[in-house]
This record gives sequence, C-alpha cells and structure tokens, in this order.
Amino acid sequence: MAKYYHITTYGCQMNVHESEKIAGMLSELGYEACGKIEDCDIAVFNTCCIRENAENHAFGNIGMLKKLKAAKRDMIIAVGGCLTQQMGKAENLHEKFPYVDVIFGTHNLNNFKELILKKQKSKKSVIEIKDSEGEIYEGEKPFRTSYPNAWINITYGCNNFCSYCIVPYVRGRERSRRSENIIAEAKELIANGYKEITLLGQNVNSYANGTEDLSFPELLKSIAAIDGKFRLRFMTSHPKDFSEELAQVIAENPKICNAVHLPAQSGSDTILKAMNRKYTSAEYKAKTELLRRYVPDCAITTDLIVGFPGESEQDFKDTLNLVETVGFTSAFTFVYSKREGTVAAKMPNQVPEDVSKARIMELIKLVNSKTREQSAQYVGKTVEVLCEGFDDKKQMYLGRDEHGRMVYFPNGKNVVGEFLNVKISSANGISLMGDITDG
Ligand code: SAH
Ligand code: SF4
Ligand code: F3S
Repeated sequence: MAKYYHITTYGCQMNVHESEKIAGMLSELGYEACGKIEDCDIAVFNTCCIRENAENHAFGNIGMLKKLKAAKRDMIIAVGGCLTQQMGKAENLHEKFPYVDVIFGTHNLNNFKELILKKQKSKKSVIEIKDSEGEIYEGEKPFRTSYPNAWINITYGCNNFCSYCIVPYVRGRERSRRSENIIAEAKELIANGYKEITLLGQNVNSYANGTEDLSFPELLKSIAAIDGKFRLRFMTSHPKDFSEELAQVIAENPKICNAVHLPAQSGSDTILKAMNRKYTSAEYKAKTELLRRYVPDCAITTDLIVGFPGESEQDFKDTLNLVETVGFTSAFTFVYSKREGTVAAKMPNQVPEDVSKARIMELIKLVNSKTREQSAQYVGKTVEVLCEGFDDKKQMYLGRDEHGRMVYFPNGKNVVGEFLNVKISSANGISLMGDITDG
C-alpha cells in the first residue's frame, strides 16, 4: 500500500529548497507526496524563526494536528528547521506537543532518513539537535518541485551577526560548497531541461572567502559558460561585499539576470551601525550607483526593517528617503522582531508596537507607489518571459521577466518551461498582464 508524506514549509528560499531535500529522502524511503495533511502517513514541518510570527505560525499549525494524531496513531509528525535549532526550543516543543514524534535541527538534516527509521522502531519521541555544522554533505537528491526553476546551495550559515538576526545562531558559521560540485549540479540541471538556476546563500558575495576556490564572480562566470539557454540568479547579496568585479560579470554575461536583491535594512547611519551592517547609507547608495553604471537596467530589490531599537522619527525618515532616491523595483518590509539571544534583544529603547505599525504602513505605501510607477512604464513594451506555471484563478499562464516581474498571459497550449516574448498590455501593482507575440 502506498505511503504518503506532506511537508509544510515556513521561511526563506533556503528552507523551500531544504524541504525538497527532505522530500527526496522520503521518496527514497518509499513515501509519495500528497496534497492534504489529513491523508498523509508522515507530516513534516520545516520551520523558521526569523521573526516571532514565523514561530507562532508553526506552533499554531503543529498544535492543530493534535486531534488528527489522536485519530491516526501511526502517523509520524516530524518537526525540523531553524525553530528547533534555537537554544531550548526542542525541549519546549516536546513539552508542549508530546505527540510530535521526531524533532531535528538544521545540522541534522542529512540524517533525517535515519531519524525516521529510528522512530519507526521505537515508541518514544526521537529528538536530535546537533550543535555543530560538520562537513558539507554532497549526497543529496532533492525532489524538485518548481520546474523550470531550480535552486542550488552555494553557502550555508552566516558569519555576519547583524545584531537583530537569529540566522547565525541557528544555521552556524558560513561554509561554502566546492565550486566543482556546484558547477556539476548546474550542468546536470541544465541537461535535464531546467531553465532558471538560483544560487542560494545568506551572503553569496562572500562565497569561498579565505580559500583557494573560485571567487563568487568567477563562480558565476563558470556557470554562465555552460551551454544552453537558461537564466542565472543569486541571493542574497550583502552590500558590504558587493564588488565592482561582480557588477562587471553581471554586465558581461547575458545569462545572468539583471536583477539584484540587495537588502539595505535601514536608511539611517545610526541604525545601520547599531544593526552591525558595516556600511553607511551613502555607501549603500554608492553600491547601487556602481551596479547601475555597469548594468543600467538592473532591477534592485531590497529588505527593510522598521522599529529597530532606538529608531527615531528622523531615522525612519532616512529610510523613506533611501526608498525615494534608490528606485527599488520592490521591497520586502518587516517590523523588527526581538529574537532572544541576539545582541539587539538586550538593547534599550525598544520601539512601541503602535509606532512600528504606523511606520510600516507608511513605508509600504511609499514602496507600493514606487513599484506601481515602475510597473506602469512596462505597458506597451515586449519582454521575454520564462513561463513558470498556470494560475487556476486567473485562467492564465504566468512567468517572470529577467527583472523578476510576474507577467500573466493567456494561451491555448501548455508553455511551462518556454521562453516567450510577451507584449505588456496593462500593469496592476507589482504584476503585469500581456499577450504572447510569438510561438
Ligand atoms: N541573509 C539575508 C537574509 C536574511 S533573513 C540578508 O542578509 O539579507 C531575510 C530578512 O529578514 C532580512 O534581510 C531582514 O530584513 C529580515 N529580518 C531578519 N531578522 C529580523 C528580525 N529580527 N526582525 C525583523 N526582520 C528581520
Ligand atoms: Fe542575518 Fe545579517 Fe547573516 Fe543576513 S547577513 S543572515 S541578516 S546575520
Ligand atoms: Fe530561513 Fe527562517 Fe531559517 S528565514 S534561514 S528559515 S530562520
């Protein structure tokens, strides 16, 4: 009889890709994917703890499984990811939800299969949280779910210790995969028909720092040199490490998309210093100017935090000012969330919630108006779109242009995985609508 798995993923792209690795291991154990959690034999929660609401979300969903587990006693519930790796959280989770069968940390991912097999032989919960990273494991066979796009990890962990951020504590120190393994993975994906590759790391610009391996720009060049038509993206770039050489490599290699995610976090020098970001607002702007000197049409997207401890009205205005002057294609905006164990959690002058809420509303309004302005400029233009799927609600195909903009268009036959020229007829906020002009 077939056995089924269901995975719930929270958090970043890195986690989405890690869930593909978990799916790969579950299929090796003979499980098949299923869409409904009620029908599965094993439910996995791949969690995130970047902000408090990410944590609450996971806790809430795991709590909701109590009834189902009582009715289906043989069902296995496994919880892993960044939340469980936090100091004391695994014990906390076990106490709160004793019916969870397997709890594993970010450094235990490669042993996931063994943990499941161990649980199948035992009545007790299996809890394993390794506190050190260990060697990079290269034997993964991810079950990829996002054709024509594919993700490749190039670095794991982070050394930057931005004062608000939990990632270095739950993902460990930065380590880079060897370039030959990354290039081999890219070649295989392209040979198998994937059309867009995104290189993943918390700070891709510091790839292989301090080793004799290729630098990040060299790695990009080597992947872009692989035969075939495909797009190459990467994220995330830390502004302090964004180099002129990188801007030049983007400009010289048409396969590398003219789109860079460059989180600014704040426009205030006082706050940037307190955040330990290691650049000033002027230095950030200078990096965007350098990038646009080489790549004039480059889309720059960003992340911004409001309500960091001590953020004054003027500091917040400086962030608004940065948005006014840089011309971001889009921005992810967050209210600062206090994370136990980080340096910022101990800072005085935490900003009251109502102030942060008012600030984020104002920031979102500005960001959206800028995005809309840029979208409107697309109307009448023809862009090359990589078709990614079909939207059932809209009854239209969808894809993105190289700048990362979502484009919807009608078509009679399935064109997922194809590059198409689409003439834009209208813009609606961040997404665009149009018609295929060829194919
Ligand atoms: N490594 C990437 C992304 C890390 S997490 C980088 O350095 O940019 C993604 C985003 O979450 C961050 O860019 C930041 O804007 C936000 N973030 C991280 N910690 C946060 C916190 N404690 N509160 C609110 N937002 C946070
Ligand atoms: Fe967190 Fe900063 Fe590392 Fe990004 S660079 S993961 S924000 S510590
Ligand atoms: Fe990603 Fe969340 Fe972990 S953003 S690295 S899954 S804390």
